[in-house]
Amino acid sequence: MHSVAPPPKDPLTEPGPWNLIAKGYDEVFFEQVPALYEAAIELLRPEEGDRILDIAAGPGTLAVRVAPRVGHVVAIDFAEVMLERLRGHIMRSRVANVEAKLMDGQDLSFEDGSFDAAASLFGVCLFDDRKRGLEEMLRVVVPGGRVLSASWAAPNVNTWLGVGDDALRAALPDIFGTPEPDRREQPTEDAEQCESELVEIGFEPVSIHPFKQSLRFASVSEYWEAYERTSAELAVLARRLEPAAYAAATGRAREHLLATCGEGGFELDCAALLALGERPLSAA
Ligand SMILES: C[S@@+](CC[C@H](N)C(=O)[O-])C[C@H]1O[C@@H](n2cnc3c(N)ncnc32)[C@H](O)[C@@H]1O
Repeated sequence: MHSVAPPPKDPLTEPGPWNLIAKGYDEVFFEQVPALYEAAIELLRPEEGDRILDIAAGPGTLAVRVAPRVGHVVAIDFAEVMLERLRGHIMRSRVANVEAKLMDGQDLSFEDGSFDAAASLFGVCLFDDRKRGLEEMLRVVVPGGRVLSASWAAPNVNTWLGVGDDALRAALPDIFGTPEPDRREQPTEDAEQCESELVEIGFEPVSIHPFKQSLRFASVSEYWEAYERTSAELAVLARRLEPAAYAAATGRAREHLLATCGEGGFELDCAALLALGERPLSAA
């Protein structure tokens, strides 16, 4: 009998790559699109005294912002260096009500109904077992509690990440695949699929809120520097390739970007789907 090898695990489902980019991710993302995090917070409807859980919190992009409006925030992440960055923000912004914990979002160590609301921005959508992550979110909020999961829109809509991904595919087709004009949308990129996933898990009501904001870049160099510093895929690649091969590949990616975006400044869209659900009161 032949044994069939399991498919290789996606490196982004391990903490290692996230630890490698934690500093760059923090420096670029924390201030890059504040309106996105504010929009997510408005949907969560935080109230004074609320207990909030931020899952896959990274450097605390949401946790630190929501803290002044609520009673207590617990921010969990499985990457220790992300949590170190979060602790830095906690100290500098002098918020005394944010707690950082190392934890896997697919296996939360909290009692049922421990929080009034839970959020996961660009976190649970990446999990190995996304359904399990969402079920855990449902479990740990009180009946009537709000849950918000954010995911990126398709790359042709979320061009902020999309043009960088295209450049990588053009530079390294063997690794990232050739550009696919007819690429199929991932479930997390499609509003209807996000909605039905939350409904199936038991959230009610459910609503999907698209977010879009234009971002301006002065040059391809400015764009690429931020893309490279925040890309966990590139961090893995830099360790996999010889330095010269890595430099050549990223050089080709930049040439592709220059051909697409031009020599001067350009604008790209940051586009995401904010999926909001509630734990039904009947779950009480
Ligand atoms: C794209 S970042 C998002 C960080 C933050 N929520 C934000 O919006 O800026 C993804 C984060 O998810 C974390 N992560 C991925 N899988 C995880 C898991 N299974 N459990 C906990 N954290 C996880 C990574 O360590 C990383 O910090």
